[in-house]
Amino acid sequence: MSSDLSYSPFDPEQTKDPYPIWDQLRGECPVYRSSFGSDEWMVDDADDAGAVYVVTRHEDITYILEHPDRFTSGEDKNGPGIPPEVLAELSKGLPLSTTLYNTDPPEHTRLRTLVGSGLSPQRVAANAPLTRATAEELASRLTGGTAELLDEYVRPLANLALLDYLGIPRDDQARVLEWNEMWERLFIPGLPPEDQIRAASKIVEYQQYYVKAVEERRADPREDMLTRLALAETDGGERLSMAEIAWCTMELISAGAANTVDGLANVLLVLLSDQERWNAVRDDRELLPGAIEEGLRLEGPTQWLPRTAADDIELSGVRIPKGATVAVTLQAANRDPEAFPGPERYDPKRHGLSRHVAFGRGAHYCVGAGWSRMALRVGIEVLLDRFPGLRLDEGYEPEFYLPIPVLRCVTSLPVNWTDAG
Ligand code: HEM
Repeated sequence: MSSDLSYSPFDPEQTKDPYPIWDQLRGECPVYRSSFGSDEWMVDDADDAGAVYVVTRHEDITYILEHPDRFTSGEDKNGPGIPPEVLAELSKGLPLSTTLYNTDPPEHTRLRTLVGSGLSPQRVAANAPLTRATAEELASRLTGGTAELLDEYVRPLANLALLDYLGIPRDDQARVLEWNEMWERLFIPGLPPEDQIRAASKIVEYQQYYVKAVEERRADPREDMLTRLALAETDGGERLSMAEIAWCTMELISAGAANTVDGLANVLLVLLSDQERWNAVRDDRELLPGAIEEGLRLEGPTQWLPRTAADDIELSGVRIPKGATVAVTLQAANRDPEAFPGPERYDPKRHGLSRHVAFGRGAHYCVGAGWSRMALRVGIEVLLDRFPGLRLDEGYEPEFYLPIPVLRCVTSLPVNWTDAG
């Protein structure tokens, strides 16, 4: 390993274009011991159990994700612990509850069955017409031959479509998104304690909203995800508690909205950055599912996931000590030449494309992947129909940022067209 090798997922410079450093890590040090480089996440070099191990090879990453008993999700998933004064504020609401992200099997399996039942392929397919109508409505407002596609189409489409699916009435959606921002703030390292307490008090309000929504649906069921959560039962007749429904719904929105905005934006960037790619899916729609997967492989929004080593474990010749945090860099795996030969090349018919890990893998594989694929497909189809000659503005250079510490998204998508359908 070269002595100047240094990596932190929090370094804004490395985040703008992390691929060169990931290539270097994968080649020279596929399990790299990092101090992360952020004050709140900084670990003591002398304390082995506190270290963070950054893993970059596809083979190692799939092994980790397929062994939740050895690399667990139950600890440290939300970064540094929540301070006691913030917990005191949160205790005014529903009890803290586990969610899908931060549980391990077998508890995870029960939650996953109950929550996943609301996102079955049939329910997702039944939602496609409503998502299409929303996309059509937003696209019809794009007039005048130019637009900022991220703000005017991608973000509103992902947010509206997801909240509609969950069953949040349109009139309530703005405040639910504000509450969602508070929830994300609570888990982002670095927020001053007084802001964290303010965020916690908003979360208590947010929970009350779900208590009321669930009671309404138990009395009068509807065709929405909240009703599914309110009524879901295991074979043994066990239901989700009110706290589980509230925390899991908050998680669905937090995990789902940002990822779908960022995923759709990044895939559009991949397609529009070469006009031949756009024209090819426009002329042969059967290419679109592969184009979406290849776009997610190349520019999937989730950069890395945390796991905790359940025991001392050796991976690629490096001993990871029990208790250490492991950063699983999904996007480094997606560009691993061993798994995807010529990884920078765009090829929607690529052999083995289904091995990409943009939605994770194993027990925690994204529960919303089916819904996201539908939303991305519909969102892109509507643009292809309406703006067949859509292109990025000349001279546009994409820039990326981290809206939250693990997500990487393009900052803007300025486009123009002459031929609207
Ligand atoms: C392009 C869009 C999306 C991407 C790239 C994405 C990515 C991911 C990834 C990488 C994981 C694995 C996390 C882990 O292993 O710890 C995950 C899990 C999860 N995702 Fe998504 N996601 C997307 C959309 C959604 C949507 C729309 C929803 C909600 C409807 C959602 C809800 C969740 C939840 C609740 C989990 C935790 C699952 C579990 O631990 O069992 N995601 N997602």
